[in-house]
Amino acid sequence: MIPTAGNAGGALSAYCAKAEIEATVIMPRHTAETLKEECRMYGANLILLDGLIDACGKMARSIAAETGAFDMSTMKEPYRLEGKKTLGYEIAEQFNWILPDIIIYPAGGGTGLIGIWKAFKELLSMNLIKGPLPKMVLVQSEQCSPMVHLFQKGKLPENYAPQSSAAYGLAVPYPFATQMMLNVLKESNGIALTVSEQEMDEGIQHIAKTEGQLLSPEGAATFMAARKLLHEEFIKNEDRVLLVNTGSWYKYR
Ligand SMILES: Cc1ncc(COP(=O)(O)O)c(C=O)c1O
Repeated sequence: MIPTAGNAGGALSAYCAKAEIEATVIMPRHTAETLKEECRMYGANLILLDGLIDACGKMARSIAAETGAFDMSTMKEPYRLEGKKTLGYEIAEQFNWILPDIIIYPAGGGTGLIGIWKAFKELLSMNLIKGPLPKMVLVQSEQCSPMVHLFQKGKLPENYAPQSSAAYGLAVPYPFATQMMLNVLKESNGIALTVSEQEMDEGIQHIAKTEGQLLSPEGAATFMAARKLLHEEFIKNEDRVLLVNTGSWYKYR
């Protein structure tokens, strides 16, 4: 069973279909139809809730306690993170084992950011790559940016009112792994910043017209973050910067 902003639910449903395991997916009702339909197609039980992923998480915990179902909530079991480490391996391999200077990642629950960093540290300890490791940049939507608040101010604001975002994967108002994400930013000399919904849309349009690629809003957020960081000179002209596009525009219909 999994509470999800969309994509993780589809992935779990697919794996469960192949493994002949029953899957229950709990997702915010406002999520795009494609993300819901793929879970149904894979034969999962799909539960839709009003609210964000934290409401889905609460329901998942109570179903797990009642039925004994395995709870796949982000970072509450060890296996998904190990899988996400392959992002780090692919980056190292595709950069020919000389890592970029800066990696910009759109974070919600944090598995990607933490997984990439874990992979790098393990590769370093096996002497497969050399330091220094990249600066890790975390980007979120202005609509829901707990990590940016925690990074910049050390706490959530009094009037914290997280909203949904076109970047469903980033609308995680109370991530479980906040400390682990902050540790990655600190250890890597990284930074956290937000982009607006309008900026994400602008990013999608720009990359479509200049690169011929249809990014997810989360992926477009990394591009807009890069622009801001270049302007602020956190990114230098000579830096090798990697933007992680975590999804496809096609799934957001
Ligand atoms: C497209 C997309 N990008 C980014 C994320 C953020 O995930 P995480 O922070 O767990 O790596 C998600 C999670 O749902 C997602 O679906």
